[in-house]
Amino acid sequence: MKQILGLICSPRKLGNNEIAVKEISRRIHHPHQLKLIRLSDFNIKLCRGCYRCLIEGKCVLKDDLPLIIDAFAQADAFIVAAPTYCLGANAALKLLADRVLAFSGRSREIWNKPAVGLGIAGLEGKEGYTKLNIDSFMRLFLMKVKASRIIYGALPGEALLNKANDEAFSQMAEALFGEPEAACGPRCPVCGGDTFRFLGDDRVRCMLCSNPGTLQINGEGMRILVEKSAHELFLSEKDAANHGAWLARMKSKFAQNKTDLKAVTAAYKDIGEWIKPLR
Ligand SMILES: Cc1cc2nc3c(=O)[nH]c(=O)nc-3n(C[C@H](O)[C@H](O)[C@H](O)COP(=O)(O)O)c2cc1C
Repeated sequence: MKQILGLICSPRKLGNNEIAVKEISRRIHHPHQLKLIRLSDFNIKLCRGCYRCLIEGKCVLKDDLPLIIDAFAQADAFIVAAPTYCLGANAALKLLADRVLAFSGRSREIWNKPAVGLGIAGLEGKEGYTKLNIDSFMRLFLMKVKASRIIYGALPGEALLNKANDEAFSQMAEALFGEPEAACGPRCPVCGGDTFRFLGDDRVRCMLCSNPGTLQINGEGMRILVEKSAHELFLSEKDAANHGAWLARMKSKFAQNKTDLKAVTAAYKDIGEWIKPLR
């Protein structure tokens, strides 16, 4: 029996995210058990950028992250669902994404599992960069992305009433343990990303894998050419290992240059007046 982990980024109980994940699960023919995590139930602290997890194998922060790491390790597949808040995925998704290095000690148990991603926005066309956030999250955890969609629904439960979402639920249910969804529209040839930044002239950058390329438009249509760089972040296990090694080298570079760096930053220590919370 497969175990599917539904990652619900919305705090709203029985809201569109929760219902959509459960509906996708209902449509999956493969026998499975659905485990659910509502991120707002967990105490997840902000990454403090100390990189000690890379050296010690686990994060020094005391919070509920180990429970989430265990759930990721036990899952066979993922359904990642996030609501659009202010034109992007809500902060819960980013909060967890920023802790990704703390998963590195368990990466072998987590990587390469199939996943589908779902962004839910209240207003048609007002999802902003939500899909990019979710695609990027799934890539960071080296999930095998089978499908990724934006659907619409504002009031809790409305995603079910919107008939246009019906096909998306079935398609995602089929894709999770089956064939990945077919690409529509121009995609990055390196990572399959569908969001680009226009850099001037014909130059573009894929916002998912960060690689630069060119946009070509001719009588046959539009084509985007992108080349892999020497420092990929999350396209393969090898890339992730290389990035981990690079981070470790940065950590020792910091140790070597600490005195010089401190001398440079010291002059800025007393500039400005900090506003602090009352405790
Ligand atoms: C703070 C906040 C900001 C939102 N911003 C957007 C937005 O920028 N674009 C949009 O289409 N919907 C926006 N919404 C609507 C939600 O994306 C929508 O209601 C979604 O279905 C919520 O999912 P849930 O029911 O699982 O909580 C926002 C909702 C909230 C609470």
